[in-house]
Amino acid sequence: MDYDKDLKEMIQKYNDNNEYLGMLDIHVGENVIDETFPQVMNLGKNVLFCTGKSAMKRLGIHKKYLDLFKKNKIKVADYDGITANPTLERIEEGVRIAKKGKVDFIFCLGGGSVIDSGKAVSVGIFGDVWDYIEKKDEIKRSLPLVANSTTSGTGSHITPYAVISNSATCEKKTLRHRLLVPKLSLADIEITKHVPPYVIATTGFDVLCHGIEVYTLKDCDEAAAEFALKAVELIRKHLYNSCINKSIEDKVGMAYADVFAGIALALKKTHVAHAISHPVSARFPEINHGQALAYIIPKTTEMQVSRGDDEVKKRFQKLGATLGIDSDCAKAVRKLIKQLKLDIPVRKMSETDLQTIYGDTIRYRWPSVERSPCPINREDIKKIIYESFKDSQYP
Ligand code: NZQ
Ligand code: MN
Repeated sequence: MDYDKDLKEMIQKYNDNNEYLGMLDIHVGENVIDETFPQVMNLGKNVLFCTGKSAMKRLGIHKKYLDLFKKNKIKVADYDGITANPTLERIEEGVRIAKKGKVDFIFCLGGGSVIDSGKAVSVGIFGDVWDYIEKKDEIKRSLPLVANSTTSGTGSHITPYAVISNSATCEKKTLRHRLLVPKLSLADIEITKHVPPYVIATTGFDVLCHGIEVYTLKDCDEAAAEFALKAVELIRKHLYNSCINKSIEDKVGMAYADVFAGIALALKKTHVAHAISHPVSARFPEINHGQALAYIIPKTTEMQVSRGDDEVKKRFQKLGATLGIDSDCAKAVRKLIKQLKLDIPVRKMSETDLQTIYGDTIRYRWPSVERSPCPINREDIKKIIYESFKDSQYP
């Protein structure tokens, strides 16, 4: 098992005419911060330190980092308490803290929510984040950012994206720019080994969906396909095992699955399941990103397999075979959801709730729906949403 060698070889193979791959500096392993801290120190003397609600403090990791910064004479502006599905208001607060601290760079220690917040602040210092998202303004500058991902995960420590919620419009949208790619992407197994089983399951399921959606895109190219399949292969080996035991090998496997899928995601995009998942979490933040995907992807996959042409069918078959559990991809996904105990009702959805999710999806997620490997119309989207959340019982 030498995933680092595989990763380097794959990056090397496709690096030549790909600017994004050339920007990556990825380190996965136990205590990777020790070997990479000299690079962090090169970024400046004042840091915006972004962290989540409580996990890093409870585990003593927040303090360890504060001590590390202090020992190396880096002054910290603390931006903590970042919660899931980060909102514009909280980003604006981060921008204020960063400006007050005159920070030179940003260091994120957390899951996708923390890293996305840091990324949004890195450009929010120079302009309005929602204007950037709505393409009313163009990103021209960003502060350098280090992302230490504590979940495996969203791929946020690798991707040029940050997903932000706007509570005024109830929208969850993606900020995209090459300048959002972190200068240094870390996954420290000493930290990811503490993730509780439900979070391993939901974040790992997110990785799987990145693999499935990228691999089945009509315009998926050789590079994205290879990274996506590699992620699914690692999901097969390590996701369930990582939920039920503490073996470091499985944590490492999941950290790499996250990296391979993150690269696939950065090279291409997602489609229908992700398109619907964001309106779900924007309206109902108690349903986290991975759980929302677990509700939606089985029905989406069934529809796409039944309607897709031979090439689409072949791709889903390949995914089913790679995932192992069942050669039928939709069945394999359902079985995995049961194994991971993601077949739980999180919220009782009313008719109005479902109508709202449908309305939001067609209002602002339609470009993602249109990337579906087979044509999908409004009625189909309605059917997927209603059947996925039928009685709020899953499946
Ligand atoms: O808040 P704390 O106390 O830190 O606890 C967190 C949180 O409750 C906990 N946690 C994180 N690392 C831990 C840990 N607990 C114990 N040990 C650790 N090592 O896990 C919980 C979930 O954290 P969160 O960051 O919300 O989860 P995730 O990493 O799944 O990120 C989700 C966000 O990322 C976006 C999603 O939409 C969502 O907003 N995404 C970002 C993408 C990107 N930037 O490229 C792409 C993805 O598709 C996704 O949309
Ligand atoms: Mn995702």
